Amino acid sequence: MAALPDTVLNLLDLDAHAEAKLPRPIWAYVSGGVEDGVSLRANRAAFERLHLVPRLLRDVSQRSAAITLLGQRFAQPFGIAPMGLAALSGFEADLAMARAAQAAGVPFILSGSSLVPMEEVFAAAPSSWFQAYLPGQPERINALLDRVARAGFRHLVITVDLPVPANRENLTRAGFSIPLKPSLDLALDGLRRPGWLVGTLLQTLLRRGMPHFENLLAERNAPAFSRHVERDFANREHLNWTHLAAIRERWPGQLILKGILSPQDARLAQEHGVDALVVSNHGGRQLDGALPPILALPAIRKAVPDMPLLLDSGVRRGTDVIKALALGADAVLLGRPFNYAAALGGQAGVAQAIRLLADEVHRDLALVGAARCDDLDPSYVQQP
Ligand SMILES: Cc1cc2nc3c(=O)[nH]c(=O)nc-3n(C[C@H](O)[C@H](O)[C@H](O)COP(=O)(O)O)c2cc1C
Repeated sequence: MAALPDTVLNLLDLDAHAEAKLPRPIWAYVSGGVEDGVSLRANRAAFERLHLVPRLLRDVSQRSAAITLLGQRFAQPFGIAPMGLAALSGFEADLAMARAAQAAGVPFILSGSSLVPMEEVFAAAPSSWFQAYLPGQPERINALLDRVARAGFRHLVITVDLPVPANRENLTRAGFSIPLKPSLDLALDGLRRPGWLVGTLLQTLLRRGMPHFENLLAERNAPAFSRHVERDFANREHLNWTHLAAIRERWPGQLILKGILSPQDARLAQEHGVDALVVSNHGGRQLDGALPPILALPAIRKAVPDMPLLLDSGVRRGTDVIKALALGADAVLLGRPFNYAAALGGQAGVAQAIRLLADEVHRDLALVGAARCDDLDPSYVQQP
Protein backbone atom coordinates (compact mmCIF):
# COMPACT_ATOMS: atom_id res chain seq x y z
CA MET A 1 0.00 0.00 0.00
CA ALA A 2 1.25 3.48 -0.86
CA ALA A 3 2.31 5.47 2.19
CA LEU A 4 2.28 8.78 0.32
CA PRO A 5 -0.75 10.38 -1.40
CA ASP A 6 -1.50 8.98 -4.88
CA THR A 7 -0.71 12.31 -6.51
CA VAL A 8 2.93 12.16 -5.34
CA LEU A 9 4.72 11.02 -8.49
CA ASN A 10 8.07 12.61 -7.69
CA LEU A 11 9.83 14.35 -4.82
CA LEU A 12 8.74 17.84 -5.84
CA ASP A 13 5.12 16.73 -5.46
CA LEU A 14 5.69 16.27 -1.72
CA ASP A 15 5.87 20.02 -1.03
CA ALA A 16 2.17 20.85 -1.39
CA HIS A 17 1.09 17.90 0.74
CA ALA A 18 3.57 18.77 3.48
CA GLU A 19 2.47 22.40 3.46
CA ALA A 20 -1.13 21.28 3.97
CA LYS A 21 -0.22 18.88 6.80
CA LEU A 22 2.29 20.86 8.86
CA PRO A 23 1.50 23.83 11.12
CA ARG A 24 2.60 27.08 9.50
CA PRO A 25 5.68 27.72 11.71
CA ILE A 26 6.99 24.19 11.15
CA TRP A 27 6.36 24.36 7.40
CA ALA A 28 8.24 27.69 7.38
CA TYR A 29 11.14 26.16 9.32
CA VAL A 30 11.57 23.19 6.99
CA SER A 31 10.78 24.75 3.62
CA GLY A 32 12.29 28.19 4.08
CA GLY A 33 15.64 29.77 3.33
CA VAL A 34 17.31 32.90 4.67
CA GLU A 35 16.77 36.59 3.98
CA ASP A 36 15.57 36.98 0.38
CA GLY A 37 15.74 33.30 -0.54
CA VAL A 38 18.34 33.99 -3.24
CA SER A 39 20.41 30.85 -2.63
CA LEU A 40 17.31 28.73 -2.07
CA ARG A 41 16.00 29.59 -5.56
CA ALA A 42 19.45 29.57 -7.15
CA ASN A 43 20.03 25.98 -6.02
CA ARG A 44 17.14 24.73 -8.17
CA ALA A 45 17.78 27.20 -10.99
CA ALA A 46 21.42 26.09 -11.27
CA PHE A 47 20.37 22.47 -11.81
CA GLU A 48 17.76 23.53 -14.36
CA ARG A 49 20.29 25.56 -16.36
CA LEU A 50 22.63 22.59 -16.81
CA HIS A 51 21.77 20.44 -19.80
CA LEU A 52 22.52 16.77 -20.27
CA VAL A 53 24.31 15.38 -23.31
CA PRO A 54 23.16 11.75 -23.74
CA ARG A 55 25.33 9.09 -25.34
CA LEU A 56 23.38 6.56 -27.38
CA LEU A 57 23.47 2.97 -28.60
CA ARG A 58 25.33 1.73 -25.57
CA ASP A 59 24.18 -1.46 -23.93
CA VAL A 60 22.57 -0.21 -20.72
CA SER A 61 20.63 -3.39 -20.00
CA GLN A 62 22.85 -4.40 -17.06
CA ARG A 63 23.02 -1.02 -15.38
CA SER A 64 23.43 -0.39 -11.67
CA ALA A 65 23.27 2.80 -9.63
CA ALA A 66 25.32 1.29 -6.77
CA ILE A 67 28.39 3.21 -5.61
CA THR A 68 31.35 2.76 -3.31
CA LEU A 69 31.85 5.64 -0.90
CA LEU A 70 34.46 5.73 1.87
CA GLY A 71 35.07 2.05 1.35
CA GLN A 72 31.41 1.12 1.72
CA ARG A 73 28.94 -0.09 -0.88
CA PHE A 74 25.64 1.80 -1.21
CA ALA A 75 22.67 0.78 -3.38
CA GLN A 76 22.06 4.34 -4.61
CA PRO A 77 24.21 7.41 -5.21
CA PHE A 78 22.03 9.49 -2.85
CA GLY A 79 21.28 9.68 0.85
CA ILE A 80 19.45 11.66 3.51
CA ALA A 81 20.99 14.94 4.73
CA PRO A 82 21.03 15.83 8.43
CA MET A 83 17.97 17.82 9.51
CA GLY A 84 17.45 19.28 12.94
CA LEU A 85 14.06 19.06 14.66
CA ALA A 86 12.80 16.49 12.15
CA ALA A 87 10.76 14.83 14.89
CA LEU A 88 8.58 17.98 14.98
CA SER A 89 7.48 17.24 11.40
CA GLY A 90 6.74 13.54 11.83
CA PHE A 91 6.59 11.20 14.83
CA GLU A 92 10.12 9.89 15.50
CA ALA A 93 11.07 11.14 12.03
CA ASP A 94 14.78 10.56 12.70
CA LEU A 95 14.11 6.90 13.35
CA ALA A 96 11.78 6.68 10.35
CA MET A 97 14.43 8.12 8.04
CA ALA A 98 17.26 6.09 9.57
CA ARG A 99 15.40 2.79 9.26
CA ALA A 100 14.19 3.48 5.72
CA ALA A 101 17.70 4.47 4.63
CA GLN A 102 19.25 1.40 6.21
CA ALA A 103 16.70 -0.90 4.53
CA ALA A 104 17.31 0.75 1.14
CA GLY A 105 21.11 0.69 1.54
CA VAL A 106 21.59 4.47 1.39
CA PRO A 107 23.34 6.79 3.86
CA PHE A 108 21.39 8.64 6.55
CA ILE A 109 22.99 11.40 8.58
CA LEU A 110 21.51 12.11 12.01
CA SER A 111 21.50 15.83 12.84
CA GLY A 112 23.16 17.07 16.01
CA SER A 113 20.04 19.23 16.48
CA SER A 114 17.77 16.20 16.56
CA LEU A 115 15.27 15.21 19.22
CA VAL A 116 15.81 11.44 19.37
CA PRO A 117 18.90 10.29 21.32
CA MET A 118 21.73 9.26 19.01
CA GLU A 119 22.14 5.95 20.87
CA GLU A 120 18.56 4.98 20.01
CA VAL A 121 18.98 5.88 16.33
CA PHE A 122 22.24 3.97 16.05
CA ALA A 123 20.72 0.90 17.71
CA ALA A 124 17.82 0.99 15.21
CA ALA A 125 19.98 1.69 12.15
CA PRO A 126 23.70 1.09 12.68
CA SER A 127 24.62 2.27 9.20
CA SER A 128 23.70 5.85 10.23
CA TRP A 129 26.22 8.68 10.25
CA PHE A 130 26.28 11.47 12.86
CA GLN A 131 26.45 15.21 12.18
CA ALA A 132 27.75 17.60 14.81
CA TYR A 133 27.65 21.32 15.27
CA LEU A 134 30.77 21.85 17.30
CA PRO A 135 30.37 23.33 20.74
CA GLY A 136 32.65 26.33 21.30
CA GLN A 137 34.88 24.91 24.03
CA PRO A 138 37.44 22.13 23.42
CA GLU A 139 36.38 20.12 26.49
CA ARG A 140 32.78 20.11 25.30
CA ILE A 141 33.91 19.11 21.80
CA ASN A 142 35.86 16.21 23.27
CA ALA A 143 32.96 15.06 25.44
CA LEU A 144 30.63 15.11 22.42
CA LEU A 145 33.10 13.19 20.22
CA ASP A 146 33.53 10.59 22.94
CA ARG A 147 29.75 10.14 23.20
CA VAL A 148 29.38 9.78 19.41
CA ALA A 149 32.15 7.16 19.33
CA ARG A 150 30.69 5.30 22.34
CA ALA A 151 27.29 5.22 20.62
CA GLY A 152 28.97 3.29 17.80
CA PHE A 153 29.01 5.80 14.92
CA ARG A 154 31.91 5.44 12.51
CA HIS A 155 31.15 8.49 10.35
CA LEU A 156 31.26 11.98 11.84
CA VAL A 157 30.07 14.90 9.73
CA ILE A 158 31.02 18.31 11.07
CA THR A 159 28.96 21.17 9.74
CA VAL A 160 31.16 24.23 9.47
CA ASP A 161 29.01 26.72 7.58
CA LEU A 162 27.14 28.24 10.55
CA PRO A 163 29.67 29.99 12.82
CA VAL A 164 26.72 32.15 13.92
CA PRO A 165 22.97 31.50 13.61
CA ALA A 166 21.58 32.40 10.17
CA ASN A 167 19.19 35.31 9.58
CA ARG A 168 15.93 33.40 9.23
CA GLU A 169 13.54 36.32 8.82
CA ASN A 170 10.86 33.98 7.49
CA LEU A 171 10.82 32.23 10.86
CA THR A 172 10.22 35.45 12.75
CA ARG A 173 7.31 36.17 10.42
CA ALA A 174 5.90 32.67 10.82
CA GLY A 175 6.23 32.70 14.61
CA PHE A 176 8.85 29.98 14.76
CA SER A 177 11.61 30.06 17.33
CA ILE A 178 13.97 27.46 18.73
CA PRO A 179 12.78 26.25 21.19
CA LEU A 180 9.21 26.75 19.96
CA LYS A 181 7.36 29.06 22.34
CA PRO A 182 3.86 27.72 23.07
CA SER A 183 1.31 30.40 22.15
CA LEU A 184 -2.36 30.74 21.28
CA ASP A 185 -1.45 31.16 17.60
CA LEU A 186 0.57 27.96 17.61
CA ALA A 187 -2.25 26.11 19.37
CA LEU A 188 -4.86 27.36 16.86
CA ASP A 189 -2.60 26.50 13.97
CA GLY A 190 -2.15 23.00 15.39
CA LEU A 191 -5.92 22.59 15.74
CA ARG A 192 -6.32 23.38 12.04
CA ARG A 193 -3.87 20.54 11.28
CA PRO A 194 -5.40 17.57 13.16
CA GLY A 195 -3.31 15.03 11.23
CA TRP A 196 -0.14 16.61 12.59
CA LEU A 197 -1.63 17.39 16.01
CA VAL A 198 -2.60 13.78 16.68
CA GLY A 199 -0.09 11.92 14.53
CA THR A 200 3.00 13.87 15.52
CA LEU A 201 2.54 16.14 18.52
CA LEU A 202 0.22 14.09 20.74
CA GLN A 203 1.93 10.83 19.87
CA THR A 204 5.28 12.35 20.75
CA LEU A 205 4.10 13.82 24.05
CA LEU A 206 2.24 10.64 25.05
CA ARG A 207 4.82 8.09 24.01
CA ARG A 208 8.10 9.96 24.45
CA GLY A 209 7.35 12.94 26.69
CA MET A 210 8.57 16.46 26.00
CA PRO A 211 11.13 16.33 23.19
CA HIS A 212 14.56 17.79 23.95
CA PHE A 213 17.68 18.57 21.93
CA GLU A 214 19.32 15.27 22.73
CA ASN A 215 22.47 15.36 20.64
CA LEU A 216 23.94 18.86 20.60
CA LEU A 217 26.36 18.07 23.40
CA ALA A 218 27.49 15.13 25.50
CA GLU A 219 24.42 15.72 27.66
CA ARG A 220 20.77 16.52 26.94
CA ASN A 221 20.04 20.17 26.10
CA ALA A 222 16.97 22.44 25.99
CA PRO A 223 13.40 21.22 25.39
CA ALA A 224 11.91 21.72 21.91
CA PHE A 225 8.95 23.63 23.36
CA SER A 226 9.56 26.24 26.00
CA ARG A 227 8.53 29.77 26.82
CA HIS A 228 11.84 30.79 28.40
CA VAL A 229 14.72 28.41 27.75
CA GLU A 230 17.26 29.22 25.04
CA ARG A 231 18.94 26.45 23.09
CA ASP A 232 22.69 26.36 23.66
CA PHE A 233 24.05 27.83 20.42
CA ALA A 234 27.45 27.11 21.82
CA ASN A 235 29.29 30.19 20.63
CA ARG A 236 31.17 28.75 17.69
CA GLU A 237 32.40 31.91 16.01
CA HIS A 238 36.04 31.54 17.11
CA LEU A 239 36.41 27.98 15.77
CA ASN A 240 39.22 27.52 13.24
CA TRP A 241 41.40 24.90 11.56
CA THR A 242 43.43 24.27 14.73
CA HIS A 243 40.26 22.95 16.38
CA LEU A 244 39.77 20.71 13.39
CA ALA A 245 43.31 19.36 13.70
CA ALA A 246 42.57 18.42 17.32
CA ILE A 247 39.34 16.72 16.28
CA ARG A 248 41.17 14.74 13.61
CA GLU A 249 43.54 13.47 16.28
CA ARG A 250 40.76 12.40 18.58
CA TRP A 251 38.15 11.00 16.16
CA PRO A 252 39.14 7.51 14.97
CA GLY A 253 36.48 7.08 12.28
CA GLN A 254 35.68 8.78 8.99
CA LEU A 255 35.71 12.56 9.27
CA ILE A 256 33.54 14.52 6.84
CA LEU A 257 33.23 18.31 6.61
CA LYS A 258 29.88 19.73 5.51
CA GLY A 259 29.33 23.16 4.04
CA ILE A 260 32.45 23.56 1.87
CA LEU A 261 32.05 25.80 -1.19
CA SER A 262 35.59 26.97 -1.97
CA PRO A 263 38.42 24.96 -3.57
CA GLN A 264 40.90 26.50 -1.10
CA ASP A 265 38.90 25.19 1.87
CA ALA A 266 38.62 21.80 0.18
CA ARG A 267 42.40 21.65 -0.06
CA LEU A 268 42.84 22.78 3.55
CA ALA A 269 40.41 20.09 4.65
CA GLN A 270 42.42 17.48 2.81
CA GLU A 271 45.65 18.75 4.39
CA HIS A 272 44.00 18.38 7.80
CA GLY A 273 43.23 14.72 7.20
CA VAL A 274 39.52 15.10 6.46
CA ASP A 275 38.23 12.01 4.63
CA ALA A 276 35.36 13.51 2.60
CA LEU A 277 33.45 16.73 2.02
CA VAL A 278 29.83 17.70 1.62
CA VAL A 279 29.74 20.54 -0.90
CA SER A 280 26.71 22.43 0.38
CA ASN A 281 25.15 25.83 0.99
CA HIS A 282 22.93 24.24 3.64
CA GLY A 283 19.95 24.22 1.29
CA GLY A 284 19.98 28.03 1.11
CA ARG A 285 19.65 28.26 4.90
CA GLN A 286 22.85 30.00 5.96
CA LEU A 287 24.42 32.81 3.89
CA ASP A 288 22.00 34.22 1.36
CA GLY A 289 23.78 34.60 -1.96
CA ALA A 290 26.11 31.69 -1.22
CA LEU A 291 27.05 29.87 -4.42
CA PRO A 292 24.86 26.89 -5.40
CA PRO A 293 26.98 23.81 -4.69
CA ILE A 294 26.45 22.38 -8.17
CA LEU A 295 28.28 25.46 -9.52
CA ALA A 296 31.03 25.15 -6.90
CA LEU A 297 31.60 21.48 -7.61
CA PRO A 298 33.84 21.50 -10.75
CA ALA A 299 36.51 23.71 -9.14
CA ILE A 300 36.43 21.68 -5.92
CA ARG A 301 36.76 18.43 -7.84
CA LYS A 302 39.79 19.91 -9.62
CA ALA A 303 41.34 21.06 -6.32
CA VAL A 304 40.97 17.67 -4.60
CA PRO A 305 40.87 15.12 -7.43
CA ASP A 306 40.88 12.01 -5.22
CA MET A 307 38.76 13.15 -2.32
CA PRO A 308 35.26 11.66 -1.90
CA LEU A 309 32.76 14.46 -2.48
CA LEU A 310 29.09 14.54 -1.56
CA LEU A 311 26.87 17.39 -2.68
CA ASP A 312 23.54 18.71 -1.45
CA SER A 313 21.18 21.68 -1.85
CA GLY A 314 18.39 21.58 -4.41
CA VAL A 315 18.71 17.96 -5.59
CA ARG A 316 15.19 16.75 -6.40
CA ARG A 317 15.28 14.69 -9.61
CA GLY A 318 17.19 11.73 -10.95
CA THR A 319 18.55 14.09 -13.59
CA ASP A 320 19.95 16.35 -10.82
CA VAL A 321 21.72 13.33 -9.34
CA ILE A 322 23.21 12.49 -12.76
CA LYS A 323 24.36 16.10 -13.28
CA ALA A 324 26.09 16.17 -9.89
CA LEU A 325 27.80 12.82 -10.45
CA ALA A 326 28.91 13.88 -13.92
CA LEU A 327 30.48 17.06 -12.55
CA GLY A 328 32.49 15.18 -9.93
CA ALA A 329 30.31 14.25 -6.94
CA ASP A 330 30.54 10.69 -5.66
CA ALA A 331 27.07 10.93 -4.11
CA VAL A 332 24.41 13.49 -3.28
CA LEU A 333 22.22 14.17 -0.27
CA LEU A 334 18.66 15.48 -0.09
CA GLY A 335 17.09 17.22 2.86
CA ARG A 336 13.57 18.62 2.66
CA PRO A 337 11.90 15.92 0.52
CA PHE A 338 12.72 13.19 3.04
CA ASN A 339 11.53 15.36 5.92
CA TYR A 340 8.20 15.79 4.08
CA ALA A 341 8.00 12.08 3.31
CA ALA A 342 8.51 11.27 7.01
CA ALA A 343 5.85 13.82 7.97
CA LEU A 344 3.37 12.37 5.48
CA GLY A 345 4.05 8.66 5.68
CA GLY A 346 6.60 7.80 8.39
CA GLN A 347 9.17 5.12 7.58
CA ALA A 348 7.06 3.74 4.72
CA GLY A 349 6.74 7.24 3.29
CA VAL A 350 10.50 7.73 3.33
CA ALA A 351 10.99 4.30 1.76
CA GLN A 352 8.56 5.26 -1.00
CA ALA A 353 10.36 8.57 -1.59
CA ILE A 354 13.68 6.71 -1.85
CA ARG A 355 12.09 4.36 -4.41
CA LEU A 356 10.71 7.27 -6.45
CA LEU A 357 14.17 8.82 -6.76
CA ALA A 358 15.88 5.46 -7.29
CA ASP A 359 13.50 4.71 -10.19
CA GLU A 360 14.34 8.06 -11.77
CA VAL A 361 18.09 7.49 -11.40
CA HIS A 362 17.77 4.01 -12.89
CA ARG A 363 15.80 5.32 -15.87
CA ASP A 364 17.99 8.40 -16.35
CA LEU A 365 21.21 6.38 -16.35
CA ALA A 366 19.81 4.48 -19.34
CA LEU A 367 18.64 7.65 -21.07
CA VAL A 368 22.03 9.35 -20.77
CA GLY A 369 23.78 6.14 -21.82
CA ALA A 370 25.67 5.21 -18.65
CA ALA A 371 25.57 1.70 -17.24
CA ARG A 372 27.22 2.76 -13.99
CA CYS A 373 27.59 5.95 -11.99
CA ASP A 374 31.36 5.75 -12.55
CA ASP A 375 30.81 6.06 -16.30
CA LEU A 376 29.57 9.64 -15.86
CA ASP A 377 32.00 12.49 -16.48
CA PRO A 378 31.74 16.22 -17.32
CA SER A 379 31.18 15.45 -21.03
CA TYR A 380 27.60 14.43 -20.11
CA VAL A 381 26.79 17.99 -19.03
CA GLN A 382 26.65 21.13 -21.14
CA GLN A 383 27.40 24.09 -18.92
CA PRO A 384 26.02 27.48 -19.94
C1 LIG B 1 14.59 21.40 8.25
C2 LIG B 1 16.07 21.38 8.01
C3 LIG B 1 16.94 21.25 9.06
C4 LIG B 1 18.31 21.20 8.82
N1 LIG B 1 19.16 20.98 9.88
C5 LIG B 1 20.47 20.77 9.63
C6 LIG B 1 21.33 20.37 10.67
O1 LIG B 1 20.92 20.19 11.81
N2 LIG B 1 22.63 20.17 10.37
C7 LIG B 1 23.13 20.34 9.11
O2 LIG B 1 24.31 20.15 8.87
N3 LIG B 1 22.32 20.71 8.10
C8 LIG B 1 21.01 20.91 8.33
N4 LIG B 1 20.18 21.22 7.29
C9 LIG B 1 20.72 21.31 5.93
C10 LIG B 1 20.66 19.93 5.25
O3 LIG B 1 21.56 19.03 5.85
C11 LIG B 1 21.03 20.03 3.77
O4 LIG B 1 22.26 20.70 3.64
C12 LIG B 1 19.97 20.76 2.96
O5 LIG B 1 18.67 20.47 3.42
C13 LIG B 1 20.08 20.33 1.50
O6 LIG B 1 19.21 21.06 0.72
P1 LIG B 1 17.77 20.51 0.22
O7 LIG B 1 16.85 20.62 1.38
O8 LIG B 1 17.47 21.49 -0.86
O9 LIG B 1 17.95 19.10 -0.28
C14 LIG B 1 18.81 21.31 7.51
C15 LIG B 1 17.92 21.45 6.45
C16 LIG B 1 16.56 21.47 6.68
C17 LIG B 1 15.63 21.59 5.51
